[in-house]
Amino acid sequence: MAKPGSIPTARRIRDLEQLNDVDSILATADLDFGEGFHTTATRGDTQFTWDYESSREPLERLYEKAKTSQWNASTDLDWTIDVDIEKVSRVFTGSTGPLRTMMGDIPGSGVGRWTDKEWSEFGIEVMKWRLSQFLHGEQGALVCTAKIVETVPWIDAKYYASTQVVDEARHVEVFSRYLREKLDGEYTVNAELQLLIDDVLGDDRWDITYLGMQIMIEGLALASFGFTHAQTDEPLLKKLLRYVMADEARHVAFGVLSLKEYYEGLDGTEIRDRQEFALEAALRMRDRMFMIQVWEQMGVPRAVVGEFLTRLRATGVWFQGPLFSKIVPNCKKLGLLDAGDGWLREKFTEIGVIEYENAPDTSIEYELFDAVSSDVA
Ligand SMILES: [Fe+2]
Ligand SMILES: [Fe+2]
Repeated sequence: MAKPGSIPTARRIRDLEQLNDVDSILATADLDFGEGFHTTATRGDTQFTWDYESSREPLERLYEKAKTSQWNASTDLDWTIDVDIEKVSRVFTGSTGPLRTMMGDIPGSGVGRWTDKEWSEFGIEVMKWRLSQFLHGEQGALVCTAKIVETVPWIDAKYYASTQVVDEARHVEVFSRYLREKLDGEYTVNAELQLLIDDVLGDDRWDITYLGMQIMIEGLALASFGFTHAQTDEPLLKKLLRYVMADEARHVAFGVLSLKEYYEGLDGTEIRDRQEFALEAALRMRDRMFMIQVWEQMGVPRAVVGEFLTRLRATGVWFQGPLFSKIVPNCKKLGLLDAGDGWLREKFTEIGVIEYENAPDTSIEYELFDAVSSDVA
C-alpha cells in the first residue's frame, strides 16, 4: 500500500531572494510528495447563499456554453491510434537553439556530443515530463474547483464551477490515459507546482483559489497547451489538447469574470496582498518549474543542471517568457497590474513579461477556442 506524502502544509515562500536562489531551487526539487498519496490542509469556510438570482449575464452565458460543450474522453477521441512516439515531439530533433549551446558548453554535461538520436530521446522525455505536469496540474484544478463550489458566495459562480469540476476530471482522465497507454507512464509532480497548489488550498480566502488556480496556473497551462499543440504532429495528442484548450479557455474566463467586480471593491492593502501573491506564483512558475528530472534521466549530473540555471540567470535569458502571454493581460483586466502605483507592473517589467500586457485577455477568448461544435485537429 502506498504511503502518504509528508510535506508540511501551506509552505508559502515570502522571500523573493530565496525564490531566485539556485541552491534553493535544486533543494525544493527533491521534496517527496509520497508514493501514492499526498495530504494537504484545505482552509476556508463553505458559504451558502439564499440569493438564487443569477444576476451576471457574462457568467450565465459561460455556464450555458459549458453545458453544451461537454465531450466524452472515451468516445470523442480515438484511443486505438497507434502513437508514433517520434511524432510526439518532433520539434526537439535537430534544432534546439539555446538549450543545445548553453548546456553543451558546460563542462561535464556531455550534451555537446549529443547526436540527433539523443535529442530525439530528450524530446520524448520533455514531452512526457510536460504532459505529466499537465496531469498533476489538472488534478490540482479538479480539487481547487471543488473548493470554489463550496467557498464562493454567488450562485452563478457555484453553477459554473460545478461544470468545471466535471471538465477537470475529464482532463485528468485524458492525460493519465495518454501517459499510461501511449507513453509508458508519468513523471512525478514538479515540487513548485504542488507547493503552489497546496498554498492555494491552504488559504482561507476564497478569491485566492481563483487567483492562484484560474488566473495563474490555468493561464500558464492554457499558453503551454497552445505551444504543445503547435509542437506535436501526433494526431491523438493534438486532438486531445485541442479539446482541453477549449475547456481551459472557459475556465480562465471564469476567473476573470468572477474576480473583476470583487477586486474593484477591495482596499489598497488587500489588493497589494493579491499582487504579491500573483508575483510569487509567477516567480515560482518561471524557471522553478524546471525539468531537472529530465536532464538527470538523460544522464546529465545535478551539478551541471545547477550550473545551467546559474548561467541562465546571469544572461537574463528566460526561455519560458511566452508562457505568460495569458497571465499578464488577465492580471491587467483584473486591475492588479496598475493598482497601488503600478507595483505589479513594475515587477512584471523587472522579470521581463510586461510585453504581454496587451495580448488578448481570456474573458471572451473562449468563444474562439470552441472545439465541440467545430471540427478540430
Ligand atoms: Fe483542466
Ligand atoms: Fe481548467
